[in-house]
Amino acid sequence: MKGIILAGGSGTRLHPATQVVNKHLLPIYNKPMIYYPLSTLMLMDVIDVLIICNKEDLEVYRKLFWDGSKMGINISYRIQEKPRGLAEGLLLAEDFVEDDDMCMILGDNIFFGHGLPDLLLETRRDLEKNGGAIIFAYWVHDPEKYGVVEFDEEENVLSLEEKPKHPKSNWVVTGLYFYNNKAVEIAKKIKPSHRGELEITSVNEEYLKRGELKVKLLGRGFAWFDAGTHDSFLEVSDFIATIEKKTGLLIGCIEEIAYRKGWMDKGQLVKLAQPLKKTGYGGYLLKIAEEKK
Ligand code: TTP
Repeated sequence: MKGIILAGGSGTRLHPATQVVNKHLLPIYNKPMIYYPLSTLMLMDVIDVLIICNKEDLEVYRKLFWDGSKMGINISYRIQEKPRGLAEGLLLAEDFVEDDDMCMILGDNIFFGHGLPDLLLETRRDLEKNGGAIIFAYWVHDPEKYGVVEFDEEENVLSLEEKPKHPKSNWVVTGLYFYNNKAVEIAKKIKPSHRGELEITSVNEEYLKRGELKVKLLGRGFAWFDAGTHDSFLEVSDFIATIEKKTGLLIGCIEEIAYRKGWMDKGQLVKLAQPLKKTGYGGYLLKIAEEKK
């Protein structure tokens, strides 16, 4: 499975904070926002990752991750000339995905919860076995502001509705999508919406029409944030800080995941920790390196 992170866009809802800096580079508490979606992909053993970004940010992303080899993963990049919509990410990823399945995640979506790694791995296995597409849904009190999903007992999607006046459920579509290899072909056929964007909903609707769209539910044990507004940005930063301080465990720590997965050795972990050692983050990595495996 290949991973795609959508880290372009215009970030207008975060202006003026994002007038000259891309939002995915801003810190959510103690690490750049993009660490969180990257860690979500890494937790499901995805080691080939494509970052889709705006032209002016490419060098910054490269400086941050280079080609991923320092953590034993492969990171490549594609430029999105203009924010033409989420589904364009699939088109830009065509030669990267080749004949593989894919998991696409929005760069401003942050997921957390006990059992999340198992759920992600299970979803990956389900997709590999059954094909089609799988979306993740989250229970909210105000579904009319989101894309709402209706489903049966077997988690087959029955309908998708964008910002409905009378929502059929409280479950809303999050920014994490699993697709079989047909997604690129489907994305090629969709037309821009009234707002001029290639909507990811159109791709999901095509899978729905084919009877191949499933949903996984993130129940009350999980947290999902879209860090795209000033308030949600602050809310998720507070959330991460609170949990990290309480538990002493970091969320979205990509070096820790790569080390625990065995993609890099102890020497490399210590090397990556050195420039960070004045911070709690660097100290955390050094402490992990001292643990008996
Ligand atoms: P949005 O939140 O829909 O858009 P945005 O980030 O441009 O923000 P705003 O609405 O404030 O102007 O995007 C969701 C995620 O997808 C976000 O992480 C940015 C990314 N994205 C792209 O990479 N390319 C795109 O064409 C679009 C629309 C979004």
